[in-house]
Amino acid sequence: MKILVTGGTGYIGSHTAVELQKEGFGVLVIDNLCNSEKHVIDSIGEITGQKPLFEQIDLRDPEATMEVFSKHNDISGVIHFAALKAVGESVEKPLEYYHNNLFSMINLLKAMRETGISNLVFSSSCTVYGQPDQLPVNEKAPRKDAESPYGNTKKISEDIIEDTVRTTGMKAIALRYFNPIGAHGSALIGELPVGTPNNLVPYITQTAAGIRDHLRVFGNDYDTPDGTPIRDYIHVADLARAHVIAMNRMLRNQNKDRYEIFNLGTGNGFTVLEVIKSFEKVSGIKLNHKIVQRRPGDVEKVWADTTHANEELGWKAEKGLDEMMLSAWNWEKSLQAQKNKKS
Ligand code: NAD
Ligand code: WQD
Repeated sequence: MKILVTGGTGYIGSHTAVELQKEGFGVLVIDNLCNSEKHVIDSIGEITGQKPLFEQIDLRDPEATMEVFSKHNDISGVIHFAALKAVGESVEKPLEYYHNNLFSMINLLKAMRETGISNLVFSSSCTVYGQPDQLPVNEKAPRKDAESPYGNTKKISEDIIEDTVRTTGMKAIALRYFNPIGAHGSALIGELPVGTPNNLVPYITQTAAGIRDHLRVFGNDYDTPDGTPIRDYIHVADLARAHVIAMNRMLRNQNKDRYEIFNLGTGNGFTVLEVIKSFEKVSGIKLNHKIVQRRPGDVEKVWADTTHANEELGWKAEKGLDEMMLSAWNWEKSLQAQKNKKS
């Protein structure tokens, strides 16, 4: 069976392509390479022994999108990762974010409807919960007003999908990721942050690699044990595995509703200082960091109630924080080795 993976040369998409192939699926990747590189297809092939099919198209283009579906008429399901994802940039460029993330979503759903493909897995985010009233947060918690245009595109996309499945024969599963980190054990694929990273873990590894002078810890006056914010960090390989399970659930008609939502996290929260400690332990490197002011828009603490995913999907995150940080560090070292080879 062939699964279309949009954004499949990106961070989470590439790890999911690997997991799909491991489970015997054929994979067709589409990506416009606006935030990834084509050689990722070769790296996936190196890991699994089989290169996925690849079409370089922009999902904002409805004709190009439809053409892919006409050309590949044996697609059983779609996993939709393609989106712009930088929260700060979305505040600066809201129209680009709404245009990219929503047009892509709509063009994809139209092509699926027109070609009769009914199974969709969508990358949503814990950002839809904002600062939850109760922790751990479960899927029934109210979605809060989005903190950014990026966050709003996730909320609106969830609504577009739900409205669409209610009126067509389609089925969909929205997966709300908490904080994905780490990289594949082979260190052949991982996150490729362009420019200065916004996210904590690539900033930590780049600081340790000497690319950044120090990590700024954004605030230590939160209501948490050490004053720094708490997040639910999840290994990208655990996350990727959940997509295969979600797709199989629909292909085997095991879904309980046409539209389902699952939190994907470990269920454990760690503070920023705990993440730094874990990094220092696994790498043996003392990380240069300074406490600075809070970052506007940051929530104080959030971690997932994973009961629904555990019980319904039969999925549980397996990897702990140290393993996540070690794989992130190995990936950073592999990136630096590649750069040194080129220069
Ligand atoms: P990524 O940027 O590494 O991957 C996204 C891919 O989509 C990139 O390869 C990019 O080139 C491609 N793309 C973007 N717009 C496109 C378009 N119009 N047409 C074709 N391709 C396009 O990001 P990621 O971290 O792998 O995230 C994947 C998905 O998961 C995104 O939808 C993101 O919003 C969501 N998500 C990510 C996180 C996170 O922290 N990484 C957390 C929650 C949700
Ligand atoms: C984690 C913690 C920072 C960088 C973002 C998006 C969210 C989702 C995941 C897509 C926070 C602290 C960070 C730094 C720091 N993405 N930090 N110094 O903010 O939880 O979530 O990515 O859907 O929508 O908002 O992740 O990695 O940026 O931050 O102290 O240089 O690390 O304050 O507490 P965040 P993050």
